[in-house]
Amino acid sequence: MSRPLVVLGVTGGIAAYKSADLIRRLKDQDLDVQVIATNSALKFVGETTFAALSGKPVISDIWDKAHDVEHVNVAKNADAIVVAPATADFLAHLVYGFANDALLATLLVAKCPIILAPAMHTEMWENFATRENVATLRKRGFLVLEPAVGQLTGEDQGVGRLPDTTEIARVVKQVVNRKTSNLPKDLSGLNVLISAGGTREAIDPIRFIGNRASGKQGVALALSALSRGAKVTLVGANLNVAVPAGVEFVAANSALEMMEQMTLRAGSADIVIMNAAVADYFVPNPEESKIKKSTDKLNIELSKTGDILTVLSENKPVKQYLVGFAAETTNNNEELVGLSKTKLEKKKADLIVGNKVSASVGISSDENEAVLVTSNQAISLPKTDKLALADAIWDFIVKDLAKVGQERKSPVEPDLA
Ligand code: CTP
Repeated sequence: MSRPLVVLGVTGGIAAYKSADLIRRLKDQDLDVQVIATNSALKFVGETTFAALSGKPVISDIWDKAHDVEHVNVAKNADAIVVAPATADFLAHLVYGFANDALLATLLVAKCPIILAPAMHTEMWENFATRENVATLRKRGFLVLEPAVGQLTGEDQGVGRLPDTTEIARVVKQVVNRKTSNLPKDLSGLNVLISAGGTREAIDPIRFIGNRASGKQGVALALSALSRGAKVTLVGANLNVAVPAGVEFVAANSALEMMEQMTLRAGSADIVIMNAAVADYFVPNPEESKIKKSTDKLNIELSKTGDILTVLSENKPVKQYLVGFAAETTNNNEELVGLSKTKLEKKKADLIVGNKVSASVGISSDENEAVLVTSNQAISLPKTDKLALADAIWDFIVKDLAKVGQERKSPVEPDLA
């Protein structure tokens, strides 16, 4: 069977040198790569480098194979297109439908999912024009990744770096695995609030008690909800993954901060998902200076944190749909359902997503499997990548939400058109 084809568009920014590595990372994900580079991109990296790494001639000139209408053929055969780096100038051209080079012409023809990884100076990224362009592109269904923070071209630091190439390749693979463009807009008009990641509790200014959660599943849930038309707020604790542009992001790195941010926002949400791995215990009085290794044994006194999910359910508006997670180290499905049911009843959520956690599945890995447990249902979802699992969880929520809405008389009415 032939491998899925990904078009890698490269535009003219300094991060173009990282696109060479991105070709490798896409190939690691079993994807075929066709590079389309703009003339400015080729001022940063030679055509030979792209051709050698991708194993295909680079497309750069719209006049090259006029008889073959290359940009139309490539656009039709691609399973996904990723533009990395995407410059501010390129985003602006895309918004206005320009087609004056091979990459823009290809994008104008393409019907497959398109991922954009912008990289530019902080001021350019934060400029009103760029913000508006990103918002417009997102509304049209482009998946725009949030740039990373760090060193930029020269001495300057800030937001605007190309996200890690392994991370971009992972997102591309997930998008290829499912048909993003086919997702129903069944969450349009709804406010969705999701917590993700793992909290850290300070011991002293340098050390903390933490967990292995990466935030991948919560970010996948946010991305899926965004694609389905929801307005999404993500309250994240120490995330290891890029937050998609278009998701409102709020940082909450400790259990206490997470409690504050979630309770502050939950009142106006139609659906709340507590996906974050929240510490059960914290250090009430962290040391103000670094603890020295002066004794053979060290005791640190811990106090219980407040249970956010329980607080949210106690204060929940009637129409709200509340989802919790249950991370369990069992290998037995029946036991997982039982443990999830206990959490469902104890914390009074509408749904508990029970997931198995081990070295290869669940926390911090790319794959997950789960059971969905409500007061009268228990459904198993097989092991798959976290974005596909997020889609399946939303499929279930949308259906259950309609039922629960009717039972509660004043229904939350998702747009099921
Ligand atoms: N949770 C929470 N506040 C906490 C701890 C957990 O809101 N202080 C939420 C999690 O986000 C998750 C659910 O409660 O949605 C279950 O979390 P989990 O860690 O699986 O269970 P715990 O309630 O902590 O119980 P235990 O660790 O004993 O299994």
